[in-house]
Amino acid sequence: MSCKTILLPSLLSAPFDRLGESVQNMKSAGASVFHFDVMDGHFVPNITIGPLVLDSLKNIPDCAFDVHLMVTNPSRQIKWFDRENVRSLSIHIETSSDIKQDLQWIRDSGKRSGVALNPPTTVEKVHPLLPYVDQILVMSVYPGFPGQTFLNESLAKIEALAELREREGLSYLIQVDGGINEETMRWVNNAGADEIVSGNTIFSDPNPANAFQRLSGLLKEWSLAAKAHSA
Ligand code: DX5
Ligand code: ZN
Repeated sequence: MSCKTILLPSLLSAPFDRLGESVQNMKSAGASVFHFDVMDGHFVPNITIGPLVLDSLKNIPDCAFDVHLMVTNPSRQIKWFDRENVRSLSIHIETSSDIKQDLQWIRDSGKRSGVALNPPTTVEKVHPLLPYVDQILVMSVYPGFPGQTFLNESLAKIEALAELREREGLSYLIQVDGGINEETMRWVNNAGADEIVSGNTIFSDPNPANAFQRLSGLLKEWSLAAKAHSA
């Protein structure tokens, strides 16, 4: 189990007419990295936000974005995210026609390179890409919409990725995205996730900052308990 698991608010569920305010609010609650979902209406059946929206948030200090690109053939679009406030950029293994080159480009541009796996995509598929990835995003719902139910079969995939990392002496981060609430967060934390994305649970709360603090407080508590247990 990771001892430094962090929670990333997913802006997909934030009110878009007050995005800057929501980011500031989450920052005051302790968030530092924000998950940013980009959808093209083709790879997934929904259309969301893109680089111009990232630019509108660029003057918020100490605020980094983890971009999740859900677009068909992302080779062209990855270039649009070469922006200072982008910490990491994940592309889907199911759609890139030259994924190694795309991942290398992301790294060369100074971002963390990420590969995202849809629920049916197996860990074996990601194996040849390991030298190119800094993070692996396990989708625990079919991408496209917030507020879906967590798919339990994602847990075995997280465990397999954690074992593989250990066995091969690698250091990629394992991220989990979709259907996270207090209960499923505990499961994915135990399975070995390092970064946990949550949208609906945080932003549907009447007080999103409190919801963020409640969830991240639990992560800290579990981490301390795990440390005490292993001491
Ligand atoms: C779904 C997106 C997720 C989404 C998760 O396609 O990739 O990032 O915001 O939202 P929740 O936490 O509501 O499942
Ligand atoms: Zn996402």
